[in-house]
Amino acid sequence: MKNQILSRLPEDFPWKNDLLYFDSLDSTNTYLKDLARSGAAHGTAVIAGRQTAGRGRMGRSFESPEGGLYLSILLRPACPAEQLSHLTCGVAVAVCDAIEALAGLRPKVKWTNDLVWDGKKLAGILTELVTQGADTAAIVGIGINCSQTPADFPPQLQNMATSLFAVTGKSWDVNALAAQVLIQLAKLDNALLSSREEMLTRYRRDCITLGKTVSLICGDSVRHGKALDVLSDGSLLVELEDGTREAVCAGEVSIRGMYGYV
Ligand code: BTN
Repeated sequence: MKNQILSRLPEDFPWKNDLLYFDSLDSTNTYLKDLARSGAAHGTAVIAGRQTAGRGRMGRSFESPEGGLYLSILLRPACPAEQLSHLTCGVAVAVCDAIEALAGLRPKVKWTNDLVWDGKKLAGILTELVTQGADTAAIVGIGINCSQTPADFPPQLQNMATSLFAVTGKSWDVNALAAQVLIQLAKLDNALLSSREEMLTRYRRDCITLGKTVSLICGDSVRHGKALDVLSDGSLLVELEDGTREAVCAGEVSIRGMYGYV
């Protein structure tokens, strides 16, 4: 598996020596977070064939059966954590680019971190920051449903989740997908601090949440409003029913369409 991924990377790929592959792990993010604490290098990537305790945002779990891509990468950008608020948006665009390069289709993004196709979730991103003295390590976890069939998902997810196979009717090589994602992440790494606005412009273009009526869910409180914009820190600007505007940060609320997941 590892060799099949490496053979699809360009000769001069910068992180060729920092790729770890496991048939099964609890969570690639959890594993990489431990490596980051013990000093792993910028660009270290961990990929698993399946996860037994895959994690999503807001403490949720992420179903990770065989057939999906489960990849985490460690980035050590030369800036404080406060300047990384657009990172997940940049990663979402990079993953859309990777899927488009491989399969010729471009998913949409449900703010902030879900890639969707036809109203169903195709991929998710979990960004976790670890502060180490003055430095910040970002663990970026990406899960893409690649060759799963609807029956591979638990019944409660079958109406909400999809895969590249389900969307196109074709099988896709998960190793080729992994290589494409790594290539796009290396490009993102080069542009992360210099091209923030360009990245966000592309994100807004992909973001299906904009213009929609959304529910803002925080614990027991549910408020409704219209999603107006994604601001330069990656937050979502929402006009609430009483006419006030609020910039909502990822991690604080869950966003749902009024009549469904998207
Ligand atoms: C979400 O849907 O809220 C985010 C899902 C992120 C899943 C990926 S799979 C690879 C990495 N390891 C994890 O445990 N989570 C991320």
